[in-house]
Amino acid sequence: MNSARTAAAPLLDGLPGIDPTWSRRVDVPDADQIVRTWHLLERPANSESPIGTMICLHGNPTWSYLWRRFLRLAPDGWRWGSDKRPVDMVVLCYAAQRRHLTSDVAALRREAAVAAITITSELPLKVRRQGRRAVEHFGFVDGVSQPVVRGTARAHAGAPAMNLVAPGEFLFGYRDEYGYYPVSPGVKAAHDPTGILTPVRFRSGTDGTSDSLHDIGRNGSFLVVRQFEQHVAEFETYCNEVAAQKARELGDPGVTPDWIAAKMMGRWKDGSSLVRNPEGRPGRKADNDFSFGAEDPQGLRCPFGAHVRRTNPRDSLGDDHATQTAIGKRHRILRVGRTYELPATKGSPGEKGLLFMCLNADIERQYEFIQQTWVSSTSFHGLRQEKDPLIGGSDGNGRFTIPFWEGSTVLAGMPRFVTTRGGGYFFMPSRAALRYLLSRL
Ligand code: HEM
Repeated sequence: MNSARTAAAPLLDGLPGIDPTWSRRVDVPDADQIVRTWHLLERPANSESPIGTMICLHGNPTWSYLWRRFLRLAPDGWRWGSDKRPVDMVVLCYAAQRRHLTSDVAALRREAAVAAITITSELPLKVRRQGRRAVEHFGFVDGVSQPVVRGTARAHAGAPAMNLVAPGEFLFGYRDEYGYYPVSPGVKAAHDPTGILTPVRFRSGTDGTSDSLHDIGRNGSFLVVRQFEQHVAEFETYCNEVAAQKARELGDPGVTPDWIAAKMMGRWKDGSSLVRNPEGRPGRKADNDFSFGAEDPQGLRCPFGAHVRRTNPRDSLGDDHATQTAIGKRHRILRVGRTYELPATKGSPGEKGLLFMCLNADIERQYEFIQQTWVSSTSFHGLRQEKDPLIGGSDGNGRFTIPFWEGSTVLAGMPRFVTTRGGGYFFMPSRAALRYLLSRL
């Protein structure tokens, strides 16, 4: 990285623990050689041995390796979670009955006002159902494929080995797939005299604890939240038009709008997989015990670029299927999304969308890896100039390849089906951590 110091005065003065001389501006040319000015907090090089570098961008501390794109990705259209509308906390309210939800939310609003907390955004969520299954706004059954956490009742009840994942991939204080404890936030033992929290377990090496740090993370996780507006009419129009065109071109009346949608998603709308139900026979259950590499190595059933193949390639990305599956387990997330629908008002046509949420112990290795290295990669799985057809953010020039035995066909001119309206990264505390925080008030 080439950088140049500017002569500007230090930006920070009088902050406890920060020497004003550590604060400076640097000019750095970005990938397009446009010079950007950054604010840097840096200790003089000769003062102490450096122990590492951390780049923090407001609200998204682990986006360091994405920093250039991040500037473009957090556009003004974000209603919350941007530098203009930052948020510190997200509160998710669930209730079995609507009247309980209404009264709980009203109570929260009152308490927030008393504590001088500003509510940046509120979003009423709803589970759309088709029979017993939850369905998102493009019409697909959602919440089918989830990792099954080892040691839980669900795991004991029997789950495909490929979906069994160590608890430490999602929860602090437990071993992950490599047998290590994920890095967990700690507090000084002296600040927890009654021992509400347990001592921090070391990450390197599988045994041992630290008496000096107590684990405020244990049984907690990191929560990623994204508010996605879904352009349902655009999605349906595109599927209808391109199906008519491809049916003509290929001389195959089986190319219907649902077929196009399923190829882009990697599942039929009823949740059944393209791998095990390639013809889309009705009445099949939502299945999740399939592999891509062993069962569909050429993507003839589920295209390489389909949403579910990009977000969880399973054993697909190499010849050694067992190793690929093991690697894949380091990039799983627990998804807990909910749909929302904002009614039309004067001046606004209304909006449909998904509040995407997922839990993971390492945002960079799990959520961000999926988003960056798989969903947004234009060369994923040997493809060229394609992104995830659903959430890749194409603006009228998206492409999507559907392989056939005889060759392949390309869907072109794909518009944007999803727009990000907000988002952030949060720490989800355990009940013990909440008790500890209360004890410190
Ligand atoms: C509006 C946005 C989105 C919609 C409508 C959507 C919809 C879906 C649907 C219908 C499925 C298949 C059913 C299932 O397995 O649950 C699915 C699977 C999945 N999605 Fe998304 N999704 C969205 C955004 C995202 C994002 C941002 C990510 C992560 C970066 C993501 C990651 C996944 C994963 C990991 C799976 C499971 C893949 C598997 O294990 O087979 N999705 N999504």
